[in-house]
Amino acid sequence: MLGHLLHRRGVDSVIIENRSEEYVVERVRAGVLEQHVVDLMIETGVGARLQREGLRHDGVWLAFGGIRRRIDFAELTGKAITVYGQNEVVRDLIDARRATSRPLHFEVDHVSVGGLDSNPVVRYRKDGKEHELTCDVIAGCDGFHGICRPSFPPGVLTAFDRVYPFAWLGILAHAAPSSEELVYSLTDRGFALFSMRSPKVTRLYLQCAPDEDIEAWPDERIWSELETRLSTRDGWKPNTGPIFQKGITPMRSFVAEPMQFGRLFLAGDSAHIVPPTGAKGLNLAVADVRVLADAISRFYDSGSETALDAYSHTCLQRIWKAQRFSWWMTSMLHLGVPHNGFDYRRQIAELDYITSSRAGMTTLAENYVGLPIDTPR
Ligand code: DHB
Repeated sequence: MLGHLLHRRGVDSVIIENRSEEYVVERVRAGVLEQHVVDLMIETGVGARLQREGLRHDGVWLAFGGIRRRIDFAELTGKAITVYGQNEVVRDLIDARRATSRPLHFEVDHVSVGGLDSNPVVRYRKDGKEHELTCDVIAGCDGFHGICRPSFPPGVLTAFDRVYPFAWLGILAHAAPSSEELVYSLTDRGFALFSMRSPKVTRLYLQCAPDEDIEAWPDERIWSELETRLSTRDGWKPNTGPIFQKGITPMRSFVAEPMQFGRLFLAGDSAHIVPPTGAKGLNLAVADVRVLADAISRFYDSGSETALDAYSHTCLQRIWKAQRFSWWMTSMLHLGVPHNGFDYRRQIAELDYITSSRAGMTTLAENYVGLPIDTPR
């Protein structure tokens, strides 16, 4: 997305990716886009397939104590979310990049960055050949395990983190979604989430232990647990079907500050991780690169580094609010480990309050659809 936004402002970039193209377009990851991401894709000419295939959701359901209550985003905020896989977004951006003939290299390794103070350089190997790229700015969009954050000089970064005592077991199944909107559920057996990827594919998650052995979860056990945790007294439950993908997602909150050293800028998961409840990860990464693309193009327009130097502070204001929201959704919806009866009853009371007070519903809705981004459009 950063390469795409820079291209539109006439700024050259080289994109290098460690994985293969097939891997990045096939690997199913998150799937909920905030309104600003949808608007940005449409406004910048990469939204045609999203407009055809994306599933717009005007609300979400919270289930607890055998009942379901709906929060109406559209009525409360005038905004919505759209279900469209992160890998589909990546596929559309790769197509757009190809159409510009600007460089995009997959299966690159031995990457290092240097000269961060003054003359940035990126070294990498592609097809066994070493390359050295001199540039004005390096964007570290290389994820939590990438090389850019560890390339900051010692003492510059402060890391803040929280690891949760549970994880998500996620599946994809060939089953028509039985609800048009997502259902987040808390039961005395733990959390479960009903989501989808298309009119024929259901995506489901359930709270499990961080060291859970996926082999201990044959399909029948997964369906039985999902039905128990998701069925509500009104007769609603997920449709079942053949499971074609299973995986475990660990849960972590992490922020590294600042997101800049010299001419190296971190964006997305290289600087921050949220637990998945509330679906903020991809959306935060897009917000970062919007601010960064704007700052880089101002630098080329005026020679001024003011916007570049404000990047970290600008992004972190909103990142911390999304951290708070993701932590809150996670804490409200997961069974504590160890289980504590007081906490469980308090969580049920919170869900009852949040879904019955207009103020409560609005606080969830305005964060879920995405808080405003502090950058000129
Ligand atoms: C999905 C993932 C999330 O983390 C979430 O909160 C909602 C939906 C999904 O993969 O569909």
